[in-house]
Amino acid sequence: MAEREKVRITHLKKMKEQGQKITMLTAYDYPTARLEDEAGIDIMLVGDSLGMVVLGYEDTVPVTMEDMIHHTKAVARGTERALVVGDMPFMSFQVSVEDTMKNAGRLLKEGMAQAVKLEGGEEVLPQTRALVKAGIPVMGHLGLTPQSVNQLGGFKVQGKEVAEAKKLIDDARLLEEAGIFSLVLECIPAPLAREITSELKVPTIGIGAGPDCDGQVLVVHDMLGMYQRFVPRFVRRYGEIGESMKEAFQRYMEDVRNGKFPAESESFSMDEETIKKLFS
Ligand code: KIV
Repeated sequence: MAEREKVRITHLKKMKEQGQKITMLTAYDYPTARLEDEAGIDIMLVGDSLGMVVLGYEDTVPVTMEDMIHHTKAVARGTERALVVGDMPFMSFQVSVEDTMKNAGRLLKEGMAQAVKLEGGEEVLPQTRALVKAGIPVMGHLGLTPQSVNQLGGFKVQGKEVAEAKKLIDDARLLEEAGIFSLVLECIPAPLAREITSELKVPTIGIGAGPDCDGQVLVVHDMLGMYQRFVPRFVRRYGEIGESMKEAFQRYMEDVRNGKFPAESESFSMDEETIKKLFS
């Protein structure tokens, strides 16, 4: 694949075959999308995590289709190379196949995404098959599925017991058979993620799932230190942008309070003649 060539789902499968790691980050707005795209990220996920890190909800449950379309559009406008994946929010795909088709269609037609992501295993097979048949690429998501936080009893590691781990392996196989092009594995033990990764032909993208997945994803606000309410153990900080922002806000406030901002070079002048006419 040429350096600035648009990333397609076919490239991702080849990357897995060639042992080339896939990079993915979340993005929710135009400037972040531009920066990630210029940096060369492979996949940009407009995750429903935006409910927590951008909109300030406790979890992802309240996120709506309108929220997702609004943010996906902004990300798509800032992206040339990366594959843009739009997350299907809670209750946009659980009710019926018909609803799923309409909502996923909106993410592609209005949001300008190139693929959608759905949380869940066996229970989302009919929706997954129908979307793939209609030409909508689907990314699966197993393990800790945040939309089910109320059922899972919190944000906890999944698949630690034998039965749970076997169910995750079965679900991964079934989703692959249903036609997903990639699978997110969230917060599961590293040996289980390694096993699923070696069983599947489609690439796995891990988050809190160890180093052996075919790619990795992080929530951009977590890796930049912009969301401080809760930092999962699997997050690595690649920046302290939250602290830099706070410091910049404080320096600005100090300058305003001390009359140091704006300076003459940041103000507009008026010629003397006009001033005389106006004020004398
Ligand atoms: O919503 C999201 O950001 C996600 C990632 C954590 C994979 O689903």
